[in-house]
Amino acid sequence: MDKTLVIGSTGNLGREVVDGLVAAGAAPRALSRRQGVPDEGAERVPGGVEGVVGDLRDPAMLEAALTGVRSVFLVWPFLTTEHAPAVLDAIGRHARRVVYVSSSGVDRTAGRQTDPIRQLHADMEELIEKSEVEWTVLRADTFASNARGWAAQIRAGDVVRGPDSAATAVIDERDIAAVAVRALTEDGHGGATYVLTGPHVLSRTEQVRAIGDAVGRPLRFEAVPPDVARERMLADGRPPALVDALLAGAEARQASELITTTVEDITGAPARTFARWAADRVDVFR
Ligand SMILES: NC(=O)c1ccc[n+]([C@@H]2O[C@H](COP(=O)([O-])OP(=O)(O)OC[C@H]3O[C@@H](n4cnc5c(N)ncnc54)[C@H](OP(=O)(O)O)[C@@H]3O)[C@@H](O)[C@H]2O)c1
Repeated sequence: MDKTLVIGSTGNLGREVVDGLVAAGAAPRALSRRQGVPDEGAERVPGGVEGVVGDLRDPAMLEAALTGVRSVFLVWPFLTTEHAPAVLDAIGRHARRVVYVSSSGVDRTAGRQTDPIRQLHADMEELIEKSEVEWTVLRADTFASNARGWAAQIRAGDVVRGPDSAATAVIDERDIAAVAVRALTEDGHGGATYVLTGPHVLSRTEQVRAIGDAVGRPLRFEAVPPDVARERMLADGRPPALVDALLAGAEARQASELITTTVEDITGAPARTFARWAADRVDVFR
């Protein structure tokens, strides 16, 4: 059977894509930099799924991972496009289709994007469109799973402190994955750029409150100034360039009322609410 290579298969989104492909009867191959991917247990990659070791920064390593692959699910977990042309060349030598996860904040009509993360995605979209493979771009809104970053504070107390950002239509990563599975396995999505959002525009205050409802105690969000947020994020071990990019992205994010019906249009099921995401992930916060 033709394989589907899932890059980022151990991540918040990628593991949902692996699950979705298994459920759809497709044959995923899960890429990770770590040895023994399928042996890391059900929490990361479902048992029985073929795992393969590879690093996007070493495109030559991807040749074996791509053998027999027809479709590729691609995330780009970096701040620059270094290695991307070589990775896309390797994909083009083996696969016919690539599905790339971009950001709903990208505006390709603008000369430059407003922050480094959007710029990265705009640059990646451009490279992918020039490549030989049939492509589909999924421009996703803020992932609900970003709220996992609040878990330690919620387990320890009732206040979540962090940098504020404009409200957006936060999306459940299972809904992005469901669209990705369709685009990877069905015809008719080539050349499409899908903007994917959740069903409600939510501030961080409202997200934290929804997690409180799920765990059964009142929680509140307290915005901290960017310099305080920066120090905390660095103390958590995040690389300085990533911290700066995340803070720039949070600051540049404009309030957006954008809600699309694309998840439902493509999958037939409405996008899940953040309240549902929190209820299904309650163990993360207890
Ligand atoms: N979070 C958001 O709000 C948002 C919004 C729009 C778009 N996105 C995009 O969605 C992507 C996926 O998000 P996520 O939350 O699922 O990410 P995540 O949980 O941080 O997972 C990152 C994945 O990338 C893999 N990875 C990292 N470095 C790699 C390398 N050098 N070579 C191969 N694989 C590597 C990791 O695999 P191993 O560690 O197992 O190697 C892991 O599976 C992000 O990278 C971002 O570009 C995110």
